[in-house]
Amino acid sequence: MQDFRGKTALVTGGASGIGRCIALALAAEGCDLCLVDLDEERLLLVKEEVERTGRSARVRRADVTDPDQVDALAAEFEPHVLVNCAGIAVLAYAESTTLGDWRRVLEVNLWGPILMTLAFLPSLKEKRGYVVNVASADGVFAVPGSAAYSVSKFGLVGFSEVTGIEFSRYGIGVTAVCPGFTWTPMVESAYTPDHQKSKVDRFLKWARPLIFTTPEKVARATIRAVRKDRAIFVHTPAARLIYYAKRLSPRLYRDVLGRLIYRIISSLEQ
Ligand code: NAI
Repeated sequence: MQDFRGKTALVTGGASGIGRCIALALAAEGCDLCLVDLDEERLLLVKEEVERTGRSARVRRADVTDPDQVDALAAEFEPHVLVNCAGIAVLAYAESTTLGDWRRVLEVNLWGPILMTLAFLPSLKEKRGYVVNVASADGVFAVPGSAAYSVSKFGLVGFSEVTGIEFSRYGIGVTAVCPGFTWTPMVESAYTPDHQKSKVDRFLKWARPLIFTTPEKVARATIRAVRKDRAIFVHTPAARLIYYAKRLSPRLYRDVLGRLIYRIISSLEQ
């Protein structure tokens, strides 16, 4: 999609972080917005920010994992662009992630985008629309210590790839955006059963200036990726480097880079 002027976009997770910034970037490009999130109070703040750009914003409190709520959204809105950005993170190893956490992470990060995309498919077909799935760099190389999160994002990259192929017959584009570490409220509030909060905070303090990007940069990169109709877009140089190394040799990633990341993550254990 080249031109966003006069189009409408629905952004899930639009109350915070990357979703908020993608909404504002789309508004700056001339899009009207529908913002969906669980957090109604913050939705209203983002609505005001969008309206200050001269575009309109409607907000709905909805849970993307609830089929009835998703169907109600699809009955009300017919966006040209659907941005599946709502997500949650649990920082825990595979063996210590509870079944409840596995289920919740997969529900929000994978099942949510599947429900949303299928519910909005009729209107996306009609408008030859576009779907942006905000996955993660963790969806192209697995990160130890965030097992369920990585699995959910690998699933979302797969969903983007398969729908990118299948929906091309309707003129619908699909991009999986895969940001590396991005400084947002999710990072500060990620639920960490295996990792000591004080150690995580110390790690974040030194890592922030070195390896973190900002949600504003992710949003601008997302607009560029949609313009170029990219299939998968990995953002931040560090994440891209690891992704390319893994493509070159998955074993190099598993046995060298992955284990190095694992050692760093292990230093944060309880
Ligand atoms: P955030 O926590 O700032 O925003 C996520 C939003 O999703 C929140 O406003 C939350 O209320 C909403 N949400 C959560 N569950 C929901 C549900 N069931 N229904 C509706 N809304 C729901 O987090 P951030 O960092 O902006 O994350 C946005 C997306 O970007 C997520 O999918 C995340 O996995 C992804 N991402 C984040 C990275 C980071 O380092 N922060 C890196 C790569 C990807």
